[in-house]
Amino acid sequence: MKVFKTVSSVQKHLNSLNLKKSLGFVPTMGALHDGHLSIIEKAKKENKFVIVSIFVNPTQFEKQEDLKKYPNQLELDLELLKSKKCDFVFIPSVKEMYTTRIESEPFDFQGLDKVMEGTSREGHFDGVGTIVKKFFEIIQPHKAYFGEKDFQQLQIIKLMVNKNNLPIQIIPCDIYREKDGLAMSSRNIRLSANSREAAPLIYQTLVKCKNLFLKKDINKVKISVKNQFKNNPDLDLEYFEIADITTLVPSSVKEKNKKYRAFIAVHAGSIRLIDNIALN
Ligand code: PAF
Repeated sequence: MKVFKTVSSVQKHLNSLNLKKSLGFVPTMGALHDGHLSIIEKAKKENKFVIVSIFVNPTQFEKQEDLKKYPNQLELDLELLKSKKCDFVFIPSVKEMYTTRIESEPFDFQGLDKVMEGTSREGHFDGVGTIVKKFFEIIQPHKAYFGEKDFQQLQIIKLMVNKNNLPIQIIPCDIYREKDGLAMSSRNIRLSANSREAAPLIYQTLVKCKNLFLKKDINKVKISVKNQFKNNPDLDLEYFEIADITTLVPSSVKEKNKKYRAFIAVHAGSIRLIDNIALN
């Protein structure tokens, strides 16, 4: 496994290979868990070479304290990547990626960034778009892998690729869950014992909502979800929405031939957890 820290060294190496549509890219912010590793396994099966980036991107954090608290376990991450036979790892510094101005570029994501995560995390998706675009320019992968846990991010990246006619196939990856249903996230290790015990309710609620969605109208489903979290001492519901999977606009009525997904954000103590589920 080769590790690169600079743009020029990774580009030089990739240029020296005969890649022929066989480079898979998995962008990460490190603190790797089994969800990431399952994505890397998938990428390994589908590509001759796999490159993983580890970069905690400052422009996608709204609060400095969240950025500072982001888990860092580089040595362990590199061991895990080696065990998955990852070919290349790119771990640039902030200076390498942003040179002198640590700023995001403004994007027009056609409203995909204005709902759900976008309402409470201002500027977050411009930060994500900025860094992913930079990585795509540097690495020029043929396929890039994104987890469906961040479904809104996935749709935004797909839009960015389509709008700019980038020759990159975006591959969505299923949400990977703990045995009790909690979606895997680098934030889970920071949950208190009480929060961790309470957190499986998030996925249980989504499963229940999927069943209810077949029989009830959207407002009834929403009321039922709110009731699930009412008076819960450990989990505080931030939003629950049912939205069309392409526009991501939250709906209050079901329309025929549309595909919907339920999206949820919950605060478990100081940790914010998100999850989603396909409904039809
Ligand atoms: O999903 C993530 O971990 C990040 O948003 C990404 C795609 C690596 C960009 O920093």
